[in-house]
Amino acid sequence: PTPVILDCDPGHDDAFAIWLAAGDPEIDLRAITTVGGNGKLAHTTYNARVVAGLAGITGVPIAPGADSPMVRLLSPAVGIHGDNALGGPELPPPAVEADPRTAVELIRDTLDAAGEPVTIVATGPLTNIAMFARTYPDRLPRIGDVVWMGGSTGRGNITPYAEFNCWTDPEAASIVLGSGVPFTMIGLNVTHQVLVTPEVMARIGAVGNRTAAFGVELLSYFNSTYETDQGMPEGPLHDPVAVALVARPGLVTTVRTRLDIELRGTETAGATSVDLLGKLGREPNAHVATGVDVEAFWDLIEAAVRTLS
Ligand code: BDR
Ligand code: CA
Repeated sequence: PTPVILDCDPGHDDAFAIWLAAGDPEIDLRAITTVGGNGKLAHTTYNARVVAGLAGITGVPIAPGADSPMVRLLSPAVGIHGDNALGGPELPPPAVEADPRTAVELIRDTLDAAGEPVTIVATGPLTNIAMFARTYPDRLPRIGDVVWMGGSTGRGNITPYAEFNCWTDPEAASIVLGSGVPFTMIGLNVTHQVLVTPEVMARIGAVGNRTAAFGVELLSYFNSTYETDQGMPEGPLHDPVAVALVARPGLVTTVRTRLDIELRGTETAGATSVDLLGKLGREPNAHVATGVDVEAFWDLIEAAVRTLS
């Protein structure tokens, strides 16, 4: 199994990313770090503890990271995820404590202890990873890959051209990309293919454990806000696609290309410029996802939920 640190901002789809990372046999989940994004850091950290605890994921340290983006102000995704970033179900008290370390310290310690490259899967703004790159540049060679759900090869979801995670902290995304660490982007062009259909809901519900029941409540809330906010009655379950790419490398197809982050556009800040046609003549610096095996993705999700409490 691939050793993984999951950096997230739960968040409905982040919850499924945690469950997939913990439940899939090809992933060895070593640490969870949280960031302000879908909600304030206090909410995303609390939610990570709730989501891990109720699924019986008790041996994985959870450490809080940055509460706000590097330069800009945080604007949580209340319209999609609710005031507490995990709207819908009543939250049981968290069964796991937060780790006393910061996210940057936990990432450092996890990399140092591994003795082999560790993959960082990031499903929120890249603030923690950028802070890590600034604090411990000497440790970057210990990262096998940063696999990020963010950006898009096409249009955005929070502005016409920017995706939420990138728009929230474009400077962080630019720093991580510029650090030279291997980088894989899974954007909306791919995550909008994994839609929470009635069949998907029924399938997960039929698993019949506590995680599945809680998960179905999350998904119905997510679908209702996606309909109101994005005109999509079947919401796209973005974040676990990044985990799925690590768990089954063939499940998500990628191309090697040039990726740049728009920092200054008057209407396009946070947009991802993906040079698929190679027009810029710049050195390719990232793998960018172009497709996903939708059936195989839901098979992985269902199987992972089945292994949990
Ligand atoms: C991303 O934004 C967040 O709201 C989701 O959790 C996902 O990480 C999709 O744009
Ligand atoms: Ca997220």
